[in-house]
Order: sequence, then C-alpha cells, then structure tokens
Amino acid sequence: GAAKDPSQENLHDKLPAAVRSAAVLKVGVDLNYAPVEFKSSGDKPDGLDPDLAKALGEVLGVRVEFVDTPFDKLIPNLHAKNYDMVMSAMTDNRQRRDGTDDSGKQIDPGVDFVDYFIAGTSIVVAKNNPQNIQSIDDLCGRTIALQRGTTQAAIIQRQTSACEKVKKTLTIKLTESDNEALSLVAGGKAVADLNDFPVAAYVAQQGQNGAQFAVAGSQLQASPYGIAFAKENSELRDVMAKALDRIIRNGEYEKILGKWGVG
Ligand code: ARG
Repeated sequence: GAAKDPSQENLHDKLPAAVRSAAVLKVGVDLNYAPVEFKSSGDKPDGLDPDLAKALGEVLGVRVEFVDTPFDKLIPNLHAKNYDMVMSAMTDNRQRRDGTDDSGKQIDPGVDFVDYFIAGTSIVVAKNNPQNIQSIDDLCGRTIALQRGTTQAAIIQRQTSACEKVKKTLTIKLTESDNEALSLVAGGKAVADLNDFPVAAYVAQQGQNGAQFAVAGSQLQASPYGIAFAKENSELRDVMAKALDRIIRNGEYEKILGKWGVG
C-alpha cells in the first residue's frame, strides 16, 4: 500500500525553524558525572548522554553543541534559553514537570520530559565501607555530601526528619558537582555521597583521582531519566521523541548503552 512508513519520515523538516536555521542543537549538561556525562581529555564532552545526544542530532540532521552548566542551574538556564534542551542524567519527576519545590511552592514554569533511561539512587562510601553503612537509616548521626539540586538532595531532606525522630542529626554538605561530594568522602569529611547507580558503579570500579569507593546497600527509587524541554517547545519535544524512537529501532541506542556499560 501507499501507507507512509513512519521510519522514513524526514525528521529534520519537523524541527523548530530556529533550530533548523541555526543548524545546531544546543544541549545543557553538567559534565561532572562519569560515565553518564563528563569531560574527556581535551575537555571534550563524553559519556552516555553526549553520545545519545549526538546520535539524535545525526538522525535530525543537526550538529550538537554542549553547554556545560552546574546541575542546579540547568532548568533556570533552559528557561533563560541558553540552550534548546537538557540532557544530564536528569530524573523525570512531578516537581520538575510542575516547576515546584519540595514544599509545593512554584519556582519556575516547569518542563516537559522525553524519557530515555532508568536509574536508581545509590549510596557511595569509601572503599571497604569503614562505617558499615547499609541503608539510608545508617546515615543518621553522620555527615554526608551530595550534589545540590538533585533528586538525592530531596531524598535526604526527607531522611533528615526520620533521623530527628531517633534523635540523631543527619548533617548534609551540599556541593556544586557530584565530583566534589565524592572528594569529601575520599577525604573523610563525609561518610557517604548519594548519586545515580550508573555513576556509583563506575566510581566503585574506576575510583576517582586515585581515591577508591564502594557502593553500600541496594539501589533506592529507580526512576526515569528524561530529556527536558521548555513547555512552549513542544515542537522540539515531539520530534525528539521520534528521533529517540528511531535510534532505538536502528540499534544505535543499545550500542551506546553497551559502550558505557549500562545496557
Ligand atoms: N538523576 C539525579 C537528578 O535528576 C542526579 C543527576 C545529576 N546529574 C549530573 N549531571 N550531575 O537529580
């Protein structure tokens, strides 16, 4: 029949006019989160997200440019139009969709997500787990470090009150990057960092700046990673969902996951 094969659709034509005329897709990312996103030698963006973004750009016929941005500034700078979308191991959740903080207060217009991966949260400790941390309850009465603006910061905020009930203060050091939180653990200034499982598994295997780590206990709260878009940019969101579908069908997606050991 004459039915149009959706896989043959020209996706470039469906891009917003501004992206087409610029011939570049700008992506906000916090490049401090190996293996999901980091700077390789020569400060080049590398990792799961940059590879996926480049594969999406290829299908869309545009070059991809990465704008390195601290994680907690990614959504504000998306609204400020510093880039077209965010791809930064960002968990798709209700608060970010609604643009509210944990208390339900409106903080920004909210974003749309196209989901592309699933990851849980892990507890990272120094190698051999000297404090024998097995769960977030074991963090009560201790000092931990983690990256500002993350879902992990929200999880720990809730844990703070659980620790209050057993009269053991949980002390939190918030850092700009996850790497800084890991350095505090390495230097004995914090007993644990909470981050996404792929990152935890990677640092447990590779270490960081010569320091060695371990993953404690089991994963908490598996949730989707989403590519974030400003709500008024549904045109880009819809074409990106199709581009993602295409790299899943043509095997590129799985190849990239395999390359980074997260397939
Ligand atoms: N998935 C977590 C979140 O959305 C952490 C992401 C941190 N990403 C990064 N590039 N540092 O909050």
